[in-house]
Amino acid sequence: MKYFIANWKANKNYEETTNWINEFTQILTNDSALHDKLTSDKVSIIIAPPAPFLISMKTVEATFKNIFVGAQDISNKQSGAFTGEVTAKTLKGLVMYSILGHSERRSNYGETNEMLAEKVKLAQEENIKPILCVRDTEDTIPPSVEYVAFEPVSAIGTGNNMPLQEVLENKAKLSLPSNALFIYGGSVKPETAFDYLTSDEIDGFLIGGASLQPSQFLDIVRLA
Ligand code: PGA
Repeated sequence: MKYFIANWKANKNYEETTNWINEFTQILTNDSALHDKLTSDKVSIIIAPPAPFLISMKTVEATFKNIFVGAQDISNKQSGAFTGEVTAKTLKGLVMYSILGHSERRSNYGETNEMLAEKVKLAQEENIKPILCVRDTEDTIPPSVEYVAFEPVSAIGTGNNMPLQEVLENKAKLSLPSNALFIYGGSVKPETAFDYLTSDEIDGFLIGGASLQPSQFLDIVRLA
């Protein structure tokens, strides 16, 4: 099983989200080969839109096998008087996964390894699987994490995806929990994805820019 995680980041409004869902659903419905990849457990898709649109994505999750809704982040607060926060308790039952510790959150919002260990714990208490992003060996990985996304900062949004061999060298240096799945992220496009898919050591992708258009995103999934 290869995982394809769409990370929309802070993009799209309600109308654009509706259009994305309609186009995505139409492409999948008309492409039986792609549809078969999902039904035969060959691929799994996790879509992480901005929080207000998580609920819109539930219809897609309900329509297709192996498509799931994911959050882009969760609060490090449990619940209560924290206006504006979206907590794991709130997201329980709505999302199956959450991206945590993306480098954009570590650098723009000061998220530390300690804070992220807390977020991992809060997510798992509510049966939400964290997809923990790491930049290098400085970013620690709690042993309970099952999905680790290696995202070198130089590759994110730059068009400079890290070559497979280099990704594998970096993988070898990380202290991955045994059985953790290893996801690569950073300028994954239909033109760059194939190489990684030839390796059993790469379990999937975290896809930013190329997930904003359903056709481009699904072109990557088709390669699996
Ligand atoms: P990118 O983003 O695919 O646009 O490089 C990946 C990510 O930041 O998750």
